Amino acid sequence: MTNAQSSHPPRKGIVLAGGSGTRLHPMTLASSKQMLPVYDKPMIYYPLSTLMLAGIRDIMVISTPQDLPQFRRLLGDGSQYGVSFSYREQPTPDGIAQAFIIAEDWIDGASCALILGDNLIFADHLAQILQKSARLEHGATVFAYQVRDPERYGVVSFAPDGTAMDIVEKPRSPLSNWAVTGLYFYDARVCEFASRLAPSPRGELEITDLNMIYLQERSLRVEPLGRGCAWLDAGMPDSLIQAGTFVQTIQSRQGMLIGSPAEVAFRMGYIDAEQLRHWAGRMIKTELGRTLYAIAGGQ
Ligand code: DAU
Repeated sequence: MTNAQSSHPPRKGIVLAGGSGTRLHPMTLASSKQMLPVYDKPMIYYPLSTLMLAGIRDIMVISTPQDLPQFRRLLGDGSQYGVSFSYREQPTPDGIAQAFIIAEDWIDGASCALILGDNLIFADHLAQILQKSARLEHGATVFAYQVRDPERYGVVSFAPDGTAMDIVEKPRSPLSNWAVTGLYFYDARVCEFASRLAPSPRGELEITDLNMIYLQERSLRVEPLGRGCAWLDAGMPDSLIQAGTFVQTIQSRQGMLIGSPAEVAFRMGYIDAEQLRHWAGRMIKTELGRTLYAIAGGQ
């Protein structure tokens, strides 16, 4: 696979993994939601793999002061995956768009993607879809997915010709059932736009308000994720177990991995077979380790 960024300044990526996980209490009273297992991996592996699959190798994890040390321990500096991980605290959960205020100096004028640490996306051709979005230099790209309960999400409505008209955060009466997923690609103006935001009535810097700035200047692309895609947010007990069962079903039926940063690193050419074998060897007692070993061409 080619590195999608070769002719552009390196795009950066943020995994936002803070918040208080109140919808998963008591499981999240003493540990981070994004550390909880989704079948055989910590939840954060999935969004991390998504950014890496987009061709992004410079990634910042933002989390609470209490939880950040755990993520550092789990993920290290990224060298095992041929990428670079940085870490930064969000002292209080003041909104998703605050990520761009917190990380502004690190983003340093690059374009930047953001993924929520509890969002899991699986799709055929996902790598191509993501790399196309990562290549765009002007505007922003978000993804829309049809759900039964749009009122829980940011909801996008469309004009008859299919152009996005409006996005409303958690509308009482949704105008469509297209939810905006927690994966966003922004151009180099994102920090400047984020700095213009004011807190919403619930006191947060809303990601929907940031997306509306792009929509109003007609530079927001809304990519529908169709039937062959699965988007799950693992933020509640039911969705957590559904996500785990989904991963288990695909992995055990097809023998393919979902949400493995090590596999993505190997397939993207960030690490070679020897490095993957070394990594797999550390967890060879698990099915995950043995599958990675086989992918690396081990005997
Ligand atoms: O999952 C997609 C949805 O995510 C979008 O459709 C919505 O437009 C967007 O606002 C967001 O809605 P949620 O209700 O899921 O947002 P929540 O406040 O639960 O935050 C999502 C994740 O981000 C959650 O895992 C915690 C983390 N977070 C959230 C906030 C507000 C932080 O790390 N820091 C924060 O300040």
